[in-house]
Amino acid sequence: MKDRIRRLEQDRDLPDRDLLDLIVMQDAEAEALLAQRAAAVRQQVYGRDVFIRGLIEFTNYCRNDCFYCGIRRSNACAQRYRLTREEILACCRAGYGLGFRTFVLQGGEDPFFTTERLAELVRAIKRAYPDCAVTLSVGEKDRATYQAWFDAGADRYLLRHETADEGLYRRLHPEELSLQNRMRCLRDLKDIGYQVGCGFMVGAPFQTPEMLLKDLRFLQAFQPHMVGIGPFIPHRDTPFRDCPPGTAQMTLRLLAIIRLTLPHVLLPATTALGTVQSDGRQRGMGYGANVVMPNLSPLSVRKKYALYDNKISTGEEAAESVALLKQSMAAAGYRVVTARGDWKGGGQ
Ligand code: 5AD
Repeated sequence: MKDRIRRLEQDRDLPDRDLLDLIVMQDAEAEALLAQRAAAVRQQVYGRDVFIRGLIEFTNYCRNDCFYCGIRRSNACAQRYRLTREEILACCRAGYGLGFRTFVLQGGEDPFFTTERLAELVRAIKRAYPDCAVTLSVGEKDRATYQAWFDAGADRYLLRHETADEGLYRRLHPEELSLQNRMRCLRDLKDIGYQVGCGFMVGAPFQTPEMLLKDLRFLQAFQPHMVGIGPFIPHRDTPFRDCPPGTAQMTLRLLAIIRLTLPHVLLPATTALGTVQSDGRQRGMGYGANVVMPNLSPLSVRKKYALYDNKISTGEEAAESVALLKQSMAAAGYRVVTARGDWKGGGQ
């Protein structure tokens, strides 16, 4: 196993069989080496810096019905909310004061936020905070809409591909959604000039190691600037309520493999990882992650943006507790920085 880890670090690639072996390995010593090498590669590119992104979950209305997601449209138990323009700008103001230089506007696919409404919001944020990056994460749109938001000043876009396996995509989503359109969106976003993030859930229902291998192959082909991965966690009001969650161990291992295949990638240790393991996000740094995305949403709505059960929201992952996060990251040997935290790969 160790020779494979070395080879992956050197070549950023491995044959299918060897990569599969890494994905499923049960070898604590090799696991430690994998983490160490991934952390070393992260160190070479980004040093000990941890970039923070202020996450503003501005609407949980969604027209989609993804089987795994707690804010799917057919979940009648979800308490729906939508922040006003002023509330969103107030989140940015608070975040700026706390040292955030990236704002991530994330929401369900809410038709209320039309192309023009969201473009206006992006313009307002960029006007007030010209030194900040704006990241959008609002799902599948047509190219003209993505272009309009880019022209309004949006810098980055997060759209997880969810899975690169056609069959699994079908089992996780209703008929009207397609992997093909998801991929079309990702290509358009990159073409337009966004820094683009894709990603997937680890341990999703019906997912096999071979499907995770496909995700890694997709990442290599697409060359995203960011990759967001986290364990699947069941939500009680979804069809997958009784499915077992993904593990922190598998997620950490995949973080490390991704760091070794894409040395320059921006790699968050996600809230879902922190939810399945309390020190998951700190441990993520030890496996090559270099980004965390504390929650800047108003406290009154945080519980309502429930993609899965037991989502953490008021501890160190909360933006107002960024001082705590700085402390615990410093104790683990990392430095939370006030910077936009752009991709360091050069070119596009
Ligand atoms: N468990 C973990 N992650 C989830 N997401 C949605 N539902 C869940 C869940 N039950 C992820 C999806 C989506 C992102 C915003 O959150 O990957 O793209």
